Amino acid sequence: MVFFSPLIVMDKRLQMFLTSFLLILVSQASAFDTCPKCGNLEVPYPLSTNENCGEPNYRVYCNNGTLQFSSSRGLYYNILSINPSSNKLIINPPRIQKTQCFTSDFITEGFRIDDNSPFNISTHNTVMLFNCSSSIFLSPLNCTSSSFCRLFEDQMEEGSSCKGTLCCHFLKDSSMTSHRIKVRDGGCTAYTSAVDVQPGLSLDQWNYGIEIQWLLPN
Ligand SMILES: *[C@@H]1O[C@H](CO)[C@@H](O)[C@H](O)[C@H]1NC(C)=O
Ligand SMILES: *[C@@H]1O[C@H](CO)[C@@H](O)[C@H](O)[C@H]1NC(C)=O
Ligand SMILES: *[C@@H]1O[C@H](CO)[C@@H](O)[C@H](O)[C@H]1NC(C)=O
Ligand SMILES: *[C@@H]1O[C@H](CO)[C@@H](O)[C@H](O)[C@H]1NC(C)=O
Repeated sequence: MVFFSPLIVMDKRLQMFLTSFLLILVSQASAFDTCPKCGNLEVPYPLSTNENCGEPNYRVYCNNGTLQFSSSRGLYYNILSINPSSNKLIINPPRIQKTQCFTSDFITEGFRIDDNSPFNISTHNTVMLFNCSSSIFLSPLNCTSSSFCRLFEDQMEEGSSCKGTLCCHFLKDSSMTSHRIKVRDGGCTAYTSAVDVQPGLSLDQWNYGIEIQWLLPN
């Protein structure tokens, strides 16, 4: 036993050294937890722009100073704003082409998030679909002549290429898939979305975007 006591003492010192070393490592690691700003947007935890910060499932992309969200089909959408306290972000809807009623994400059949992603499309989005085939007229789509999409086609420059097409709007509610907004040949070929539409606001005052929320990491 006597033989071992110096070793035990050494061990204690080593332990103290290691403990403080580890403490420094841990404090540095947590300093890396939140990602750096991207352009003028803060990137709150758990969003992750690289492998050294945030959580890997919460990947967003900082491309040349522009923060972007990737659909599961690999198209990038600019992130317009982030609300870290409600775990929500808003992305820019795809542009509707000037000459044809197609959104820029028509090639990937619209916007899609992976089913097992922590992100989903929130229930605050009013989605307008354009150039629809009559086969998609299911409730709760509102495809009447008073639908918001008519106003969008008539009043907004961006909707002008969709003027006169069959169109519908709906509130993305909890009865629907929260992982995609679909466009396709033979369905609808363009869409846009606005967040928290207030009755009475004119269309140019709407907050155009797709609101996405995320589950907190365990
Ligand atoms: C990156 O952004 C800067 C400033 O906005 C711009 O001048 C430059 O052309 C961009 N580079 C690329 C590769 O897009
Ligand atoms: C509407 O969609 C069809 C395909 O479903 C396409 O052929 C047609 O050009 C589109 N209309 C407009 C106005 O872009
Ligand atoms: C369709 O939407 C418009 C605008 O919100 C509303 O006034 C109208 O009552 C709706 N129609 C149906 C059938 O839901
Ligand atoms: C979407 O995510 C929120 C939390 O981020 C969750 O409460 C909700 O149940 C999810 N909705 C669906 C349909 O998965």
